[in-house]
This record gives sequence, C-alpha cells and structure tokens, in this order.
Amino acid sequence: MTQTDPHSVADLTQGRVTHIHLVWKVDFDARALVGAATLHLDQPAAGLLSLDTRELTVAQVLDQDGQALPWTLHPPEGFMGARLDVVRRPDTSAVEVRYRTAPTASALQWLAPANTAGKAHPFLFSQCQPIHARSMMPCQDTARARFTYSAEVTVPEGLVPVMSAAPGEPGTPVDGWVTTAFSMPQAIPSYLLALGVGHLVSADLGPRSRVYAEPESLQAAAWEFADADVMLRAAEGLFGPYPWERFDFLMMPPAFPYGGMENPRLTFLTPTLIAGDRSLVTVLAHELAHSWTGNLVTNATMNDFWLNEGFTVWAERRILEVLEGPEAVGVAANIGRHDLEEELARFADQPAYTHLETDLSGVDPDEVYSSVPYEKGFLFVQLLEETVGRTRWDAFIKAYMGRFGFTSITTAEFEAFLEEQLPGVRDAIGADAWIHGPGLPENAPRFGARRLEAVLSALAAWERGELDTEAMGRWTTRQRIVFLQKLPRPLTHEQCARLDQAFSLTASANAEILSQWLLVGLASGYAPALERTSTFLGEVGRMKFLKPLYAALMARVETQPAAASLLADYRELYHPIALAGLESMVEGRA
Ligand code: BES
Ligand code: ZN
Repeated sequence: MTQTDPHSVADLTQGRVTHIHLVWKVDFDARALVGAATLHLDQPAAGLLSLDTRELTVAQVLDQDGQALPWTLHPPEGFMGARLDVVRRPDTSAVEVRYRTAPTASALQWLAPANTAGKAHPFLFSQCQPIHARSMMPCQDTARARFTYSAEVTVPEGLVPVMSAAPGEPGTPVDGWVTTAFSMPQAIPSYLLALGVGHLVSADLGPRSRVYAEPESLQAAAWEFADADVMLRAAEGLFGPYPWERFDFLMMPPAFPYGGMENPRLTFLTPTLIAGDRSLVTVLAHELAHSWTGNLVTNATMNDFWLNEGFTVWAERRILEVLEGPEAVGVAANIGRHDLEEELARFADQPAYTHLETDLSGVDPDEVYSSVPYEKGFLFVQLLEETVGRTRWDAFIKAYMGRFGFTSITTAEFEAFLEEQLPGVRDAIGADAWIHGPGLPENAPRFGARRLEAVLSALAAWERGELDTEAMGRWTTRQRIVFLQKLPRPLTHEQCARLDQAFSLTASANAEILSQWLLVGLASGYAPALERTSTFLGEVGRMKFLKPLYAALMARVETQPAAASLLADYRELYHPIALAGLESMVEGRA
C-alpha cells in the first residue's frame, strides 16, 4: 500500500484513473445525484483498485464489458470517508460504479427556492476542494492524479446545468427531464470538478467570457464584471496564453461559503462581490490567476496548499498592479498583512499550522483553513521576486509553468526547482524558516503607499477627535477597509454614531465595508450594528463574513444569546462546511 496523500486512500501504483465518464440524474426531491461513474484506467490491469468515497450508496460495480466485479465498501472513517475496494479481473480497463449520493453529501448544497435570487426554483451547487469530490463520485480523490472527464447530466426541465467543462446543447425534454452532455478535455485534479444547476441565464462579456446567473441578478453581475476580458488579457500578458479556452463564471446563491472557487472554465463567485461599484472584482482576478497557479501547476496535497494560494495571491496582485497600479497593491497587501497577523495570533498555540508546508495527516483540511497559506505565501513569493528582481522572477515563473504545467507538485519539488533555476537564492532569503518554520520571518516585505499613509494619518487624527469627512469621502474601498480594520475598539456610542452618519456604514451595500464596520459596532455595543448584523447574517453564507461576525457576537456576554438564535434561524441558508465551524463556535461543540 503506497499512499502518497494523507487525505486519500488512492494508491497510484495500482494504476491511474485518467478519464471519468459521469451519468447523473439530478433529483431535487431526493436531494441526490443518481447514476454512474465510469473510471477509465491508464492501462488494463488486474487486482485491487482503492477509491475514495463518502456517504455514497453503491449498487453495482462492473468492468468495461458490463461484467460484475467484486467490491467492498469499508466502514467510514470520519472526514476521510469510506474506502471502496474493487477487485479487477486481468485486463480490466474501466470500472463502472453505479451509485447514488447522500442528501448530506459534503460537496453538495441543495437549496430550496427561498434561498435563491429568484425564489422560484431550487438550486444545486458543488464545492469539491479540498476533499469533497468523493461525496459526488468514487474517485482517486488526490490532487496528484489528474483526469479528463465527460458527463451526461439530466435535470428537471426549466433548470440549466453547468460544469467545469465545455457544455453541449441540451437534448429534447423527455417526461419533464432534459439531458446535457459536457466534456472536459484538459486533465484536472478531482477538486476542480464542479456542477451547478439552477434557473440560469447568461450574458457574454467578451469573446472568451460569459457570466451565468439567475435572471434576477444577471444584469448587475454583467455590469460588475464587465472588465472580465480586460482582466483575462492582463493575466495573459503576465503569465502566458490562457490554457483553458473559456473563462466563464457563475454567480452563486448567497449560501456559497467562499468568495470564489477557481473551477476551470467556470469560476464560482459569491454574490457578495456585487457592490455596485466594481470595487470587489479582484476576487475574480484571484480565481483567474489560479488558471496558472493552481489549475495548471497544482499542489500535490493539502500540505502544499500554499503553492496554490500563496502564488495565486501574488499573481492576483500582479494583475491588480496592471489594472489599478502599485498604490492599489500597496493597500491590498496591507489588508492581507492585517489578516495574516490576526491569524498568526489565533494559531499562537498551534504554530505548526503557520508553516508554509504543513503536515495535515489526520487533520481535516477544512478545519485548519486560514489566511496563512495565502498571505504568508504571498509575502514569500514577493520576497523571491524582490530578491532576484522582476525580470528574473518572471522568467522563473514562465519556466515553472513550462516544467510543471498540468502536473501536481510538492513543496520539496518546488524547492528543488528554485535551487536549480536560481541557485543560492533559497539560502540567501532563509527559505527554510519561511517554509518549515512558524510565524512571519523578519525579512518579510513591507508595502508603503500614499493611500495608506492617508489612512494612517486619518486614524491619528481620529484619536485626537478629528474626522476629515471630505478627504475620507474620496477614499477607495480598500482604504476604507484598512481604516475600519485599524480603528481602535470599543468606541463610544457617540463615536460610532458619528462615523456611521459620516459614511453611511450601517447602510453600506458593500459587504466588505459593512462586515468590517459591524465588527467595530459589535465590539462597541452599538445597537444599530447588532440590528444590521442580525439581518446580514441571513443574507450571506460566505464564511469570511460569518465566522468573524459570529465570533464577535460570542465575544460579548450580552450578544451570545443572539448568536445562538440567529444560527438557529439561518441554518438552512448555511453550507454544511460553514455550519460545522459555526456550531462549534456558538454551541461550544468542538
Ligand atoms: N480555492 C480557493 C477556495 C477554497 C480553498 C475552497 C480551500 C476550499 C478549500 C479560492 O481560490 C479562494 O482562495 N477564494 C478566496 C478568494 C480570495 C483570497 C480573493 C475566498 O473565497 O475568500
Ligand atoms: Zn485561491
């Protein structure tokens, strides 16, 4: 047994699944995908094939000729799920598993119409990263194994399925059901398989980009992300030709637990990015950047997650620099630095989670998700760029894509390649301490910006009781966020009211500004903030907002009962991944 990923039972010495064909009927009544997955192997072979599954009900396992194969579904082991062992006869080239998913499948959220924009049709979406693909299909659920895929997805007439793949034309309805075929010709790791089903329409934003959304939010989404094609061309200028043909994206229902998910050909985006002023579109730049850093060169396991996210935050900020200039990057990097410092404090007694390379054997990666791989990773990549200079670093990045494109690599492989391409740099910057040590090394890059200084002097003025509302009125969204993040707390009721009045904070339509403000207000016992928090928590399912706001409610005895009752009211809206974290926070269930 040669397991190479602590989060998968896959043994790649048994053979590799190189293509998966999926046949799914999307049953909203039963909340299940019902059908089959045919796993095509790299070569005909006999013997054991171990697959990851989670809460799947397996009916039958067949070979390529339709002959039954013996199989055993082992008892589930927590977040790892249940191992499915199939015994292949000699010359087995494909294994077909007939199965159905559970209503509680961890990759899937089935939304009632009330929790969608249009409130008339149900919605289904998947979130496979990090290790949830196994709850949708039996597979080698490790990023080390890549496969192409095809699918036939049957949905109730009136709904539209989308995947991280090229769609065909929908077939003719039969008894109220319609089948659409998909194909994904580029090999992906399992965590990038994705499915969405809803009452969807779409609008073209450029020759290669289209936004999918419910009709009720299509126009606003198309306006907010009108520059998708500009972004795409900026990214190509930096990282080379876009490797995935299409760059489409899907506006998710509010329950989507992340800001975005880089599913190839079809990024998923939270609706909280629609601020009405295009100020939050860098999340799309981040997901786009993953087209190179993550989807092309992929982390081998979740221990190497920083290779995906650290490089992508760096790439996102290079795109931002092209689109908005270095001032914007300076402020963004400082927001990141603030988040990182908070996170490092949270992990003070678990410093191992603040290494870039981690050891997550036996650890549920969802439970230790943090901004460390993002922002510490970003600072490390930035340090590399600053140390060797942009010209050499950009050449390194191109070489990195060339060498490792469409493969999955470990941190050690990255380190070796760095040493090969840029000898001596590793030691010169103390890479060991960054990668294998805790916290933030002394030589972390710092970012200055005039826009940042303006915020810092406004904060100093605020301490003296002054508020220059005119100058602050001209600030960018990111400047406002820095100001709110750094505002001392608690404030008096009068101070809260003064800020609120000057900048309409409680009424802000910008989820980032609003959530930062609510944190200030909650820490200060400011009643309008508590009231707005109570409604806001029923409007969003994005963990980035839910976790700090519930934590802020729990931080004060007076608002603890509110946390419990809001969680009880809104639990239908929240994704199971979000709910698990919130329950342990609010109900003290660890
Ligand atoms: N790939 C991540 C989301 C993710 C990571 C989902 C791990 C599940 C497990 C995505 O690219 C991401 O980083 N999203 C961020 C965007 C932000 C950093 C701009 C988010 O959701 O906040
Ligand atoms: Zn990311």
